[in-house]
Amino acid sequence: MSAPLAALEGVTLRFAPAGGGPEVTPLVDVDLAVAAGESVAVVGPSGAGKTTLLHVLGGLLPPTSGVVRFDGRDLSTLDERALAALRNERIGFVFQQHHLLPQCTVLENLLVPTLVRHRRTPAALVDRARELLARVGLSERADHRPGELSGGECQRVAVARALVLDPDMLLADEPTGALDGENAEHLADLLVELNVERRVALVTVTHWPGLAARMRRRLALRDGALRPADGVGAGGP
Ligand SMILES: Nc1ncnc2c1ncn2[C@@H]1O[C@H](COP(=O)(O)OP(=O)(O)O)[C@@H](O)[C@H]1O
Ligand SMILES: [Mg+2]
Repeated sequence: MSAPLAALEGVTLRFAPAGGGPEVTPLVDVDLAVAAGESVAVVGPSGAGKTTLLHVLGGLLPPTSGVVRFDGRDLSTLDERALAALRNERIGFVFQQHHLLPQCTVLENLLVPTLVRHRRTPAALVDRARELLARVGLSERADHRPGELSGGECQRVAVARALVLDPDMLLADEPTGALDGENAEHLADLLVELNVERRVALVTVTHWPGLAARMRRRLALRDGALRPADGVGAGGP
C-alpha cells in the first residue's frame, strides 16, 4: 500500500484544564491512516473526542505525544508558517455551525481562504469560487449574505469555501448536525459527490447513520480508542 495522505501514529491527546481539575484524555495511542481520495466516518458519543481528533489530524492541535503526518511529513517538524500554509492549501474544514462571516457576501466568504496568499484574489480563483458555487447549486446567491440563506444553503457555502483552494483532504465536523432531513440528505450527497469528483479525502464526524453509511469506512471513537464501527444504528440527522 502506498503511504497514506494523512496519518496519526500512536497519538495521545491530553487536556489539562486551565482552571485545574482532572485531566481529560480523549485520544489514547490512536493510529489512523487516511488514503488519498478515501472517505471515513467517525462516530462516537458526545464528548468522546471526535472534534479533537479532527483538530489533531488537521494540524490545528499538536498531540501530547505521537506523530501526525501529512503527505509523509511529521507536522511537528514544520514551523508555524509552514503549518499554516499546509492547512490553508491542502486541508479544508467544514464545521457544524458553518462559521460564515455574516457581513460578507456568499462569494466573499468563498474567497476568504484565498486572502492568506493574496491581497486581492486572482481572477482565476474568483472563477473557481463561482464554479464551486454553481456546483453546490448556489450561483444565484453569490451576492446574498449568509443571514439571507437557509441553514442547508449556508452549509453548502461552507463546503464550497473549504474546497476553493482545491485541498487534498476535507475534514467535516457534524456537517449535517444543524440540518433537517431533506437538507441533510442533500448535503450528504454533495459531500460524497465531491469526494469522488475532486478526489478529495473526506473525514467526517457524524451522529447521523445516513451520512456514516455513505462513507467507505466507519470508525468509532470511545474511551480514547478508535476502532472499526459496525452497526451504525438508526435515527435522523
Ligand atoms: N480546550 C480544551 N480544554 C480542556 N478540555 C477540552 C478542550 N477541548 C475539549 N475538551 C474536552 O475533551 C473531550 C472531548 O471533546 P470533543 O473533542 O469536543 O468531543 P466530541 O466532539 O466527541 O463531542 C471533552 O471531555 C471535552 O470537554
Ligand atoms: Mg464535537
